[in-house]
Amino acid sequence: MAAIIDAGYFVATLSFVGGLKFLSTPKRAQTGNILAAVGMGLAVALTLYATTQQTLPPVNLLVILMAMILGSLIGWFMSSHVQMTGMPQLVSLFNAMGGGCAMLLGIIEARQVGVTAIALNVQLLLAGGLVIGASSLTGSIVAYYKLAGKLKDNRSRILVYSARLALTLTIGLLLAYSFGLLPISFMGVIYLLAFLALAYGVLFVLPIGGADMPVVISLLNSLTGVATALAGLVYANKIMIAGGIFVGAAGLLLTLMMCKAMNRSLLKVLAGTFAKGGGSASAEEIHIKETSSSETAMQLAFAQKVAIIPGYGLAVAQAQHACGQLQKLLEERGTVVDYIIHPVAGRMPGHMNVLLAEASINYDRLLEMDEANDHMDQYDMVLIVGANDVVNPAAENDENSPVYGMPIIRAYQSKQVVVIKRGMSKGYAGVENSLFGADNCNLLFGDAKTALQDLMGQLKLI
Ligand code: TAP
Repeated sequence: MAAIIDAGYFVATLSFVGGLKFLSTPKRAQTGNILAAVGMGLAVALTLYATTQQTLPPVNLLVILMAMILGSLIGWFMSSHVQMTGMPQLVSLFNAMGGGCAMLLGIIEARQVGVTAIALNVQLLLAGGLVIGASSLTGSIVAYYKLAGKLKDNRSRILVYSARLALTLTIGLLLAYSFGLLPISFMGVIYLLAFLALAYGVLFVLPIGGADMPVVISLLNSLTGVATALAGLVYANKIMIAGGIFVGAAGLLLTLMMCKAMNRSLLKVLAGTFAKGGGSASAEEIHIKETSSSETAMQLAFAQKVAIIPGYGLAVAQAQHACGQLQKLLEERGTVVDYIIHPVAGRMPGHMNVLLAEASINYDRLLEMDEANDHMDQYDMVLIVGANDVVNPAAENDENSPVYGMPIIRAYQSKQVVVIKRGMSKGYAGVENSLFGADNCNLLFGDAKTALQDLMGQLKLI
């Protein structure tokens, strides 16, 4: 029987690997998701089956089944009702649940110490899983409230120092217990650790800037994976170890990739700092040229190759459908239209890809920044829709700029550029954009969706 369960776990592990592989391309992402979900279903079913083979009181089985049904219903309801823009919040709530589970496992298993002899190394694994799970729980809940705009940033130094104190006390407590220096029981240590870790989660996430939340969520997600892997070691459950390692590694890689694409170190994100000011051009030095929708429509009508660069403003305006309609209109006139996607355009990983997919935009037309950057001069016209930092040339030519070093889409190299935005507000990094003053650049002021609709109206008249 154990061999069959192990074989099933192996199949589930393979499906996780396949799922992750497929998730790396938008075209196969859905298949990847289904594959990994099937693997998870198999893992849960096998674990449940293994449980039924033990002599458990029937009431325990009933509780497990009811929890599974309730959890599935809640998960299904939340996922099917979430708006695309609310996806990061949902991820952080699911993450909080994973962290909460790890914490509860730690507490429940710790109660066995004293009843059954548990080796010190296993006790430490339990305590480690509990600490990581508890801080992921409260950290993810704070992240949820920040992403939902229900909690403001609080950069108070007191919070930062309190977080450090909570972390130091947690590590100190763990070390003191391992060396037998504490006169209290393991259960007492576990409760103290849970309290400190719950407090740490809140204190650690509160001072981090709202716009950095996606990086933090990805990190918390990775930590939940580590907590699961530690719990897997305690139970000697192979699928928990494998699943936890996948989540931990994938989350950490994503965190680092996001930091790299923003040219920020993880430490700076965690410390909530973003260099402000610097030698970038000020608003007065930039002489912008305003354009109209009729003028822009005329430019588009004569262009043979057009690139659309979407950014956070497109998401805010929910302009993805209008973007897709404009693309269709242009293609009907024989224009080639590409979308160029920056890895951190928007406020969450893959934000633009998800929005464009929602508008049924063909993946073949999506280009990654690196694919497009060497050929930007081929575009007769680049239409930037609500993007700012990700096209700022200061990242390449102004060493004093806070965004210096951040990889950008080289929109400035194309023949003509039109930027759709509502006013002269800066982007997330809070710096002026020298592109707006370039000879080949014009600004079309307005809400992204309205401006695109106006453009289509004008284009139909030509
Ligand atoms: P931003 O640099 O934030 O610029 C967005 C622009 O959109 C703003 O300048 C704003 O100008 C305009 N805008 C806002 N609402 C609009 C609307 N309704 N219609 C038209 N325009 C609108 O965005 P980006 O270029 O996408 O760059 C993303 C930034 O977020 C980067 O700095 C990145 O590092 C950071 N970030 C990204 C992530 C991920 S994973 N994507 C995670 C953390 C941080 P107006 O107000 O003048 O209209």
